[in-house]
Amino acid sequence: CFCRINIVTDTMAAKLVSSWYKEVECLPESYILPPEERPGDRPVPVSNQIPVVDLEAPDSAQLIVDACQEFGFFQVTNHGVGEELMEDGMKVFEEFFGMSKEEEGVVCNLYSDTPTTEPCVVSTSSGNNVNSEKVHFWRDVLRHSCHPLHQYLPFWPHKPHRYREVVGECSVEVRKLGFRILEKISRGLGLSSGYLEEFSKFMYLQVNHYPPCPDPTLSLGVYKHVDPTILTILRQDSYGLQVFKDGHWIGVQPIPNAFVVNVGHQLQIISNGKLKSAEHRAVTNSVKARTSGAFFLHPDVDTIIEPAKALVNAANPALYRSFPSYEFVKRYSANRGDVEETIKAFQL
Ligand code: OGA
Ligand code: NI
Repeated sequence: CFCRINIVTDTMAAKLVSSWYKEVECLPESYILPPEERPGDRPVPVSNQIPVVDLEAPDSAQLIVDACQEFGFFQVTNHGVGEELMEDGMKVFEEFFGMSKEEEGVVCNLYSDTPTTEPCVVSTSSGNNVNSEKVHFWRDVLRHSCHPLHQYLPFWPHKPHRYREVVGECSVEVRKLGFRILEKISRGLGLSSGYLEEFSKFMYLQVNHYPPCPDPTLSLGVYKHVDPTILTILRQDSYGLQVFKDGHWIGVQPIPNAFVVNVGHQLQIISNGKLKSAEHRAVTNSVKARTSGAFFLHPDVDTIIEPAKALVNAANPALYRSFPSYEFVKRYSANRGDVEETIKAFQL
């Protein structure tokens, strides 16, 4: 394969997979994972094992907590977020990654290949330390803060021209949904009303874009990780997300107009390990580009994270120490999402 990608010396725009994938016929070597990390050619069954919860059902709080304990993941329907609105949102995301790179660079304030706290960034692969990572991942990514909306909107892409309007509305609606779910989790765990909302003052959006990949058996879109969040609410229109459970991968079936919701690692800590923050990854496919939109509810950097007092007693001692949220994020990014390494620093 005469692959011309040079992720170290190329400009950031030229590093994006979407800017060069059409020119390569096989997978560039720097995208080939070590054998033990490859998805391989044994297909992962796409299954409906992950619970689907109707948010209006009377027992939805219990169903959600059960799912968060067993899988750390569930899908939600009847969630109140407008169907057309979210379809529009997904269309705008696709349009964004379909623009020419010059246009993309102009409309987004920053391309970055190193960790940054900028409010709006376009990056590729793991999104962090792209130049020094051992292997690259088949993904481009747009990430920006969403809340408070008026504060961050000026940093968002202003092209496609409907981006700010449509995505602004999506993020307001998804945030409301997130709070409804957190309220159900609070109730299901026996915490006071509004308890978890306090830990979700911040929200950011990550739009993942996975162009068609010449060899999905040797590469991944996103490596195995847990989300460092409180709660992640993801919209996927096609298949690619897999959840790791009991040593096996489960493919998460795309359901029209549903959201995939998962427990973030800081929520696992607040729940004193009652809820599970499950490892997951995204595979690629060779046929069609896939785009997903992940909304991350996250604590403010200075918020103190610790197991909820109501869940700690003589029979259930605290499993984690308290710490400011930024400490978690710092360690998480230093360990590149490795759960075992990250959690060591917080376990008692
Ligand atoms: C993420 C993630 C999976 C997907 O953005 O954290 O896990 O399906 N994405 O895009
Ligand atoms: Ni994730």
